[in-house]
Order: sequence, then structure tokens, then C-alpha cells
Amino acid sequence: MILQRRNRILRVNSSIRSLIAETVLTPNDFIAPLFIDEGENIEFEIPSMPNYFRRSVDLTIKEIKELWSVGVKSVLLFIKCKDELKDNIGTEAWNKNGLMQRSIKAIKDAVPEMYVMTDVALDPYSIYGHDGIVKDGEIVNDETVEALVKMSISHAEAGVDMVAPSDMMDGRVAAIRQAFEKNNFTKVGIMGYSAKYASCFYGPFRDALDSAPGFGDKKTYQMNYANRIEAVKEALMDIEEGADIVMVKPGLPYLDIVREVKNAVNVPVSVYNISGEYAMIKAAAKMGWVDENKAILETLTSIKRAGADIIATYFAKDAAKLLNQ
Ligand code: PBG
Repeated sequence: MILQRRNRILRVNSSIRSLIAETVLTPNDFIAPLFIDEGENIEFEIPSMPNYFRRSVDLTIKEIKELWSVGVKSVLLFIKCKDELKDNIGTEAWNKNGLMQRSIKAIKDAVPEMYVMTDVALDPYSIYGHDGIVKDGEIVNDETVEALVKMSISHAEAGVDMVAPSDMMDGRVAAIRQAFEKNNFTKVGIMGYSAKYASCFYGPFRDALDSAPGFGDKKTYQMNYANRIEAVKEALMDIEEGADIVMVKPGLPYLDIVREVKNAVNVPVSVYNISGEYAMIKAAAKMGWVDENKAILETLTSIKRAGADIIATYFAKDAAKLLNQ
């Protein structure tokens, strides 16, 4: 057999394989999402997210130092709001002394170089577990946007580096950007959760924050997973409104969307490898059905290969350690 081309030449050994690798994952790519709770010395393992924890601020800072030491330079904060502080309009979300605002300050004091992002949406603060204000059984857009602006400003006052509106209300990126300009927060960024789909894979996250919707679902604001082109529209509009980074979420079942958005925009694209994706790998690994470490690296590499410049992932620390080996 005389072959003109032998493709296996470029796979002969690991040196040539790494030499020609198109996608190289590094800890620089990761954002570590963190769940924060009140109290001190508290560490609660989330049942549907094995080995992932909701922690009090002191232990969160310990975790952040560890993340920094393995090369993870960005975190995305979520807080668990006490039931008695929840209402319909999310008042606690812009409390200057709220858990989120105190956490931002404490983290920036302890590890100033860590790039701190915050989730902006009302669901952890809402008695209904919805991302917006509820009126007559509907999630109202414009009043919610006003609440999100107050929330974003309070995060900026506390010292956040970038806010990440995850609510999918229309016009919120423009409103937040304008408010930042008016209040002279010219260095605070906005990462729009631009193409966020109504997904069953958020389940474990809602366990972590006790934030599942009390009635109905999120389909009137989050996107229909049947749609691809709509994701491009959402991303382009967020950029026009002033988003510095656009996000696609979830990750793994949406890699076609990631590529579509990546090809359409000229800002960094981030992808959220969400709680349900984490839980599936953990569960299969526990059963001995997949090799966990290999599944982590293959998954994250595939997300980057699809077009992600940034990946928010609960595997950030584990993956960074694996990559540093
Ligand atoms: C809140 C929010 C959610 C997630 C991030 N921000 C849940 C939701 O929209 O219901 C999900 C993250 C994950 O599942 O890991 N708006």
C-alpha cells in the first residue's frame, strides 16, 4: 500500500500531539462560581453537587486564596439569602450591608488581585424564586430592570470588578451601563448572560441557593432551547447595549450555540458549564462509569474548542490542579 498522506504521523507520540494541539486549556480560562452563606466557619456540601460547598465568608476567603494559588484569577459570587429577608421586589439585593456587599468587600480586601464578578438577578432574594418582580402571576420587565440597576450599583459601591446580569430581562445591560456612567463607575464591567436558556440542568444550583421558582417556570424570560439564531440576536443586542463579555449558558448541550455566537461577535465569549453538567460527571464517576479527571478535561477542552474564551465552571480548582501537574 502506497499512501500519499498518512494522518497518523501527527499522532505518533505525545510530543507531536501537543505541538499541533489547536486548543490549549489553562487555569487563566476559568471563572470559579462560589456560593456564600451567613455565619462563620460554615461549610455545607450541596447534596446534588458532591464536593462542592456553600461557605461562610471566612471560609470563602480561604478557598479564594487556594484558587489564586493554583492560577484561577476570577470568581463569580452567589449568595444564599435568608428566608426572612426575601420579598417580591428583592429589597435585600441592594442592601449596602447585605451578605453580597459584605462578601465583595471582604474578598477584595483579602485578595485584591482576584477579579470579582457577581450574579445579578432577583431569584435568590425573591419569595417566588423568580429572577424578576412578579405582578398578577407575570414577571414584569421594566420594574425588574430598575431593581437590577440598584443591585448593580450597590455591588459597584462595594468594589466589584464586573457584574453579570443573569435574569434575561430586556434592556438591562443598557440600563446598568448608563447607571454606571452616571455614577462614575467607569471601570466596572458587564458580562451579559446573553444567551441563557430555560434549562432543566440548573436544578442542583437551585438546591444550593434554595432558589427554585415557587410557581411556573422561567420560559417567559429564558430562551427556548429549540432556538439557535435567537442566541445571536441576544448576544449582538447585549454588545450594543454595552456588554463587555457575552455568555452562553448552559455549556455542554449548547456547543453549537457557543460556536454560532463566537463567529458573530467581537467581544470575549464566556460559557457557563453549569451545575447539572457538574452533577452528571460526578454521578457517573461515582458509579465508576467514567474517569472523572479525564471527563473534566475533555469537557472543558470541548467547550473551549467550540469557541469559549472563558469558562465558568465548578471544576475550576480541580481542572487547574490537573493542568498544573
Ligand atoms: C440565577 C442563576 C441561575 C444560574 C446562574 N444564575 C439559575 C436560574 O436561572 O434558574 C444557574 C447556574 C448553574 O446551574 O450552575 N438567575
